[in-house]
Amino acid sequence: MIIAVDGPAASGKGTIARALAAHFGLPWLDTGLLYRAVGVSAVRAGRDPNNAEDALAACDFPEALLDDPELRSEAAGKYASFVSTHPAVREALVHRQRSFAHQPGGAVLDGRDIGTIIAPDADAKLFVTASTEARAERRYRDELKTNAEADLAAILADIEDRDRRDSERASAPLKRAGDADLLDTTNLTISAAVQRAIALVEARTGKR
Ligand code: DC
Repeated sequence: MIIAVDGPAASGKGTIARALAAHFGLPWLDTGLLYRAVGVSAVRAGRDPNNAEDALAACDFPEALLDDPELRSEAAGKYASFVSTHPAVREALVHRQRSFAHQPGGAVLDGRDIGTIIAPDADAKLFVTASTEARAERRYRDELKTNAEADLAAILADIEDRDRRDSERASAPLKRAGDADLLDTTNLTISAAVQRAIALVEARTGKR
């Protein structure tokens, strides 16, 4: 069984994908991490993530980089959003994601183009969203844990920028697949959102 979970930054899709994987006993791939690794790898090599050739050269990043906590930073998210606009970079990462999705038994993948490009044949597709304000607030509360100077207005502006880049790029933009179930987490607790996601997948697949 393949489960595709897509949605914008800070919508809760990663948390939901991880919980679905645990519930259904499936492996999980956070595909954003691959783009983050390309972005961080480019910057560490003194290259420009906005330049297609520089970004492509960073696609053969060392595997160990995927465990680097720096990939979770806001800066890495921004670099990822830059490198992901280049079609050659997306192409370089497609095979890895499709093989993961189609492994025996299936998998859960979360990202921006899982239900549309990576696994259009997925058994269940969720498009997870939340208002821009709710997403910024979540990031803000998260950042406050390590940074007392966290700035809500700056985070909101950053999320709006990222949404624009992810949705307006020509290559595999963030878009709800026609057959994806919408899950708006704006007013849901994490546990309510996870329960709802499980119910939607069960309804689509008949699996428990
Ligand atoms: O989900 P995330 O915040 O880790 O993603 C970081 C960036 O990577 C996001 O702004 C766009 C890009 N991305 C993508 O283009 N396609 C994916 N399947 C996953 C992420």
